Amino acid sequence: MQLIRTIADLRTALRAERSAGKTVGFVPTMGYLHIGHLTLAKHSQLNCDVTVVSIFVNPTQFSPNEDLAQYPRNLPHDLKLLEEQGVDYVFAPEVDEMYPDGSGKTSTYVDVGDLSSILMGALRPNHFRGVATVVSKLFNIVQPDKAFFGEKDYQQLAVIKRMVTDLNQPVEVFGVPTVREPDGLACSSRNSLLSAEDRAAAIILPQAMQLAQTLVDQGERSVSVLHQAVLDKLQQEARGEVEAVDIRDAETLAETAELLTAPAVLLLTVRFGKTRLIDQHVLRF
Ligand code: PAF
Repeated sequence: MQLIRTIADLRTALRAERSAGKTVGFVPTMGYLHIGHLTLAKHSQLNCDVTVVSIFVNPTQFSPNEDLAQYPRNLPHDLKLLEEQGVDYVFAPEVDEMYPDGSGKTSTYVDVGDLSSILMGALRPNHFRGVATVVSKLFNIVQPDKAFFGEKDYQQLAVIKRMVTDLNQPVEVFGVPTVREPDGLACSSRNSLLSAEDRAAAIILPQAMQLAQTLVDQGERSVSVLHQAVLDKLQQEARGEVEAVDIRDAETLAETAELLTAPAVLLLTVRFGKTRLIDQHVLRF
């Protein structure tokens, strides 16, 4: 495995791989890796000749009042995990390498329109603009054939797919199912920021999603009934502050009719102390 710090070095290394006829798979991450990230890398390794994982905590997707400084980091541990898994390249640039004026900002942003401003985009203005911008930059640097993203960040995946379509970016984007801890909580780097009590309480998210699926399995199709049931369940856990419960069309993220006729995605955002957890479940019937 090669650790690469500069754009020029990565381009040189990947040019050689492509000249040898190798396909390139790419997994962008912000580090503090867990089994969910390693699963994305595994998908890339199974589907491409060469796998690149980037580790970069991207300042443009955090608002000034958000947890950029607190975001967990542990590059040596990340490198050990990726080495053990047999990943080919890790690209871990400094902020100045990605945003050369030193401010962690850029003049040119990629804005994916309405999809970026609804749902989590309403809670975190400019978040998806920062994600789309850095992922575009990374796609330009890595020029992957395929890129892999977790379905846990459901809206992020939708934003990136739309961006790739709208900008004709020559990369195939794949969503990979959410990997969960044994008790059902979705793996997330932010889980490490939870106190032991909040970590225990956080299983209310998968429990609420399970409840919604059970109701759908029993024939419930009313979005308002499902919404209320999920909200009531989440509110049983006093440690969590419910920020959002949304049921949207699973394909387009558009609002659904009151009675579901097609798969819908349940999107949850719950805050435990300062840590915001998100999760998603596609309600199928
Ligand atoms: O999902 C993440 O970790 C980040 O949003 C991403 C896609 C690596 C962009 O910074």
